[in-house]
Amino acid sequence: MSTEISTAETKESVIETTSNLPYRPRRLRRSETLRRMVRETILTVDDLIYPMFVMEGENQRMEIASMPGCYRYTLDLLLPEIAAVYKLGVGAIALFPVIPEVKKDETGTESYNRDGLVQRTVKAIKETVPGIVVITDVALDPFTTHGHDGIVDENGVILNDPTVEVLVKMAVSQAEAGADMVAPSDMMDGRVGAIRQALDAEGYIDVRILAYSAKYASAYYGPFRDALDSAPKFGDKKTYQMDAANAREAIKEVELDIAEGADIVMVKPALAYLDIIRQIKDKTNVPVAAYNVSGEYAMIKAAAANGWIDEKKVILETLTSMKRAGADLILTYFAKEVALMLN
Ligand code: PBG
Repeated sequence: MSTEISTAETKESVIETTSNLPYRPRRLRRSETLRRMVRETILTVDDLIYPMFVMEGENQRMEIASMPGCYRYTLDLLLPEIAAVYKLGVGAIALFPVIPEVKKDETGTESYNRDGLVQRTVKAIKETVPGIVVITDVALDPFTTHGHDGIVDENGVILNDPTVEVLVKMAVSQAEAGADMVAPSDMMDGRVGAIRQALDAEGYIDVRILAYSAKYASAYYGPFRDALDSAPKFGDKKTYQMDAANAREAIKEVELDIAEGADIVMVKPALAYLDIIRQIKDKTNVPVAAYNVSGEYAMIKAAAANGWIDEKKVILETLTSMKRAGADLILTYFAKEVALMLN
């Protein structure tokens, strides 16, 4: 009997609390029109940058096994693909080259060859699709026999300042070819300032720098390294890329890059680092980019191929979360698919 009474009392008090609720948030979720009216974050095609892979040869397109739907294109096939994505509204591409083994060496000299694959490709893009913003990657890993982003000494140590000298030559040769923006992804100290100085000195004052400022030593880059065949032959990248456990260090890297002249700063990867994107957004006044990297792409594709998730919805939800976290721009292999979805 006493139990019954206490149950009734509990019920009554719950009802009372409910009826006294001062506010009902569900009111604004009642219809799609209302939901659209109060939506805080809207992903648009203007937010997207499409990373693309170019290889030597003619009339070939090779799908990357761990990145279904992503291809390495020869230049002749890359150009129409770029024209197509530009037509869909994607404003920028980030270009990555597949360098043949015979062109690689210890110090990545091919990276600043005026007639190299990147330089020829940039020229051709600017001739055929002049409106698209071409972003070139500044790092040695596709060009070195050992696969590291820097010059390595006999003890396996990555040498900072000699590497920066090569990065500067690479960035200037990319600007000379017509790149709109150079993107140092190497994580050497002082490279943004050195590249800015050299670009200005050579007259490329309007070539922008998109700095991979907070780039983590991440296991999410695996499929990209397959795509470029650029996995390090020994060791790992932990002496230059950041420790996944650190957040304050990311702020320091961003502050340094801005002081050195970065126009846009980037966080990479994106999904496991949404907190970093938010902190950087709150602490800076330059546009913030996020790189939805190859491993993030591969996970969604693999789950979708198994029928375990709704691919389109998961893609949109994931990219929206990056924008909500503070990303003004998102580099994503989903760019073309998303442009098609949003159109
Ligand atoms: C190399 C570079 C990497 C990526 C972009 N530039 C790989 C790495 O640092 O090893 C990764 C991109 C991706 O995983 O999608 N400087």
